[in-house]
Amino acid sequence: MNRAPDPGSFAADYLAEQEEKGLLRFITCGSVDDGKSTLIGRLLFDSKLIFEDQLATLTRDSRKHGTVGEDIDLALLVDGLEAEREQGITIDVAYRFFTTEERKFIVADTPGHEQYTRNMATGASNAELAVILVDARHGILPQTRRHSFIVSLLGIRHLVLAINKIDLVDYDRAAFDRIVEEYRAFAEKLGFETLQAIPMSARYGDNVMQRSERMPWYTGPTLKEHLETVNVADDLEERPFRMVVQWVNRPNLDFRGFSGTIATGSIRPGDEIVVAKSGRTSTVKSIVTYDGDLSEAFARQAVTITLADEIDISRGDVLSKAQDRPQVADQFQANLIWLQDDHDFLPGRSYLLKSGAKTVNAVATDLKHKVDITSFDHIAAKTLHLNEIGVANFSLSEPIAFDKYGDNPETGGFILIDRLTNRTVGAGMITHGLRRASNVHLQALDVNKTLRAAQKGQKPAILWFTGLSGAGKSTIANLVEKKLAAAGRHTYLLDGDNVRHGLNRDLGFTEADRVENIRRVAETAKLFVDSGLITLVSFISPFRSERRLAREIVEDGEFIEIHVATPLELAEARDPKGLYKKARAGELPNFTGIDSPYEAPENPELVLDTASRSAEELADDVVRYLEDNFYLAPPAV
Ligand code: ADX
Repeated sequence: MNRAPDPGSFAADYLAEQEEKGLLRFITCGSVDDGKSTLIGRLLFDSKLIFEDQLATLTRDSRKHGTVGEDIDLALLVDGLEAEREQGITIDVAYRFFTTEERKFIVADTPGHEQYTRNMATGASNAELAVILVDARHGILPQTRRHSFIVSLLGIRHLVLAINKIDLVDYDRAAFDRIVEEYRAFAEKLGFETLQAIPMSARYGDNVMQRSERMPWYTGPTLKEHLETVNVADDLEERPFRMVVQWVNRPNLDFRGFSGTIATGSIRPGDEIVVAKSGRTSTVKSIVTYDGDLSEAFARQAVTITLADEIDISRGDVLSKAQDRPQVADQFQANLIWLQDDHDFLPGRSYLLKSGAKTVNAVATDLKHKVDITSFDHIAAKTLHLNEIGVANFSLSEPIAFDKYGDNPETGGFILIDRLTNRTVGAGMITHGLRRASNVHLQALDVNKTLRAAQKGQKPAILWFTGLSGAGKSTIANLVEKKLAAAGRHTYLLDGDNVRHGLNRDLGFTEADRVENIRRVAETAKLFVDSGLITLVSFISPFRSERRLAREIVEDGEFIEIHVATPLELAEARDPKGLYKKARAGELPNFTGIDSPYEAPENPELVLDTASRSAEELADDVVRYLEDNFYLAPPAV
């Protein structure tokens, strides 16, 4: 399709002109008071991209909310939403467009408040350059280091250190030099390709769009000059071909195309391609776009590829050329930035991992260390708190195709999603695949679960008792096992207190240790089910996430969640082991129900009310549940 612009149209000319200019994507990072919004406002204002009516609103708003007296408060221009203004912080990533004679710009305005690193990571993910703002009065802050580290991890190679509010230190050269020196010493290890420090006052416009008269000692470029001229050319097109299939385009039986944006490299009709994960190959028949077929397509182009053969390809598959394929593995090591404020990152917990257009289950098998953002020292750690950065090994539920993040951000980056809330909780960058386990294949055994269960005349399952300490889990589980044994059933009881003396002797009661405690007992219970046993598990197991994992690793119907629903007051009044008393006295930290949470099951198969019924009656209820649901009938042969 060839849509010629109307030669008389000013708009078309203008657009055509814009098309020809290069585009620079950058992000701004800084803390709330560094003047970031003012700087972006200044860029937009001085590049005259604000329309009259917007200016009128701005003047009005400045009177209402502004912090700079009678002047227009440029920060209001970008601080957008009323709610944000009232809170005095910016809360989401906003992409803004402006243009100069030389270049077009898209700036991701990312909030500076401590807990909003998440937005910054989002904004940085497709930027070429980062402007890190520093208040000349305060110099380098921990956030400055963290943001710099994160942008470097995310692959940004060009950095501007904007030393703002220089007017408030009387345009003092020594103050500027000191900050630059300290920053360079720190940033050396981050390996930026270009690092330009600029003294500026966004509020008064010094060295932003116009050169300042007030700092004759500064001979470097203004921010505008630097942004217009910095060479950020990358070699994405030179790298090996990668395209993540975003969707399979099948409008009718005669056409089947694979659509996506080329991440790196280039492709032509006739090239042999391979689906990384399955290893199937075919030849590119055509490269289809809205504007017609292409004889070659490059990184960043959105295309639909058709192939010579009908091979199995689905959303999320990574296409590459046969000679240069991504790795395929179910284990890798990665840098991880933790973004969740209300929960720490916990090795052993199962998260959803989304890489490209593919989502799998993932567990960190090992948190190797966290990184001190000032010294880059490696520090031993069991968890990561909000905004902390660490290195961990991940194990996935199935192999995926990936590259090192440094080679290809699109196929080497991933996000972690909380399985219960669906929120993004971490951003990861793969450093390398781990081949260790890929030589260990599951052994197909001749004597299997079905045979073992048939021998025992029962349907194996896990009876998972969860509830507070002192709720009565072990008492009831013990009675249930006695009744089943008396009826000739084959059982085993895994009890928290006992397992913690052996297999889990190395674990305490922190959140991380409890997650690992439950992961191990869930895997153990799974093995016992495989052996054909009715397996009783009696653990507090306070977190939904791990109980859900325990449910998911066995087959449907093999996990029976039993909530021993004793209220805290009752468990505490009974206090069979005197532990509540100790916990209240502060002698037992992290005690469930006191200073460590218990997340009650949402949809348990059974709820046992110990307040109104005896342990004996409740045990009978459990056995009846098994009978009613055919766990005790001999399986049909
Ligand atoms: S869980 O939370 O990790 O599932 P688990 O069931 O293995 O706990 O162990 C709980 C038992 O450990 C309790 O019944 C109690 O006897 C003992 N215990 C010791 N310290 C604590 C604590 N801080 N919180 C809960 N239980 C504790």
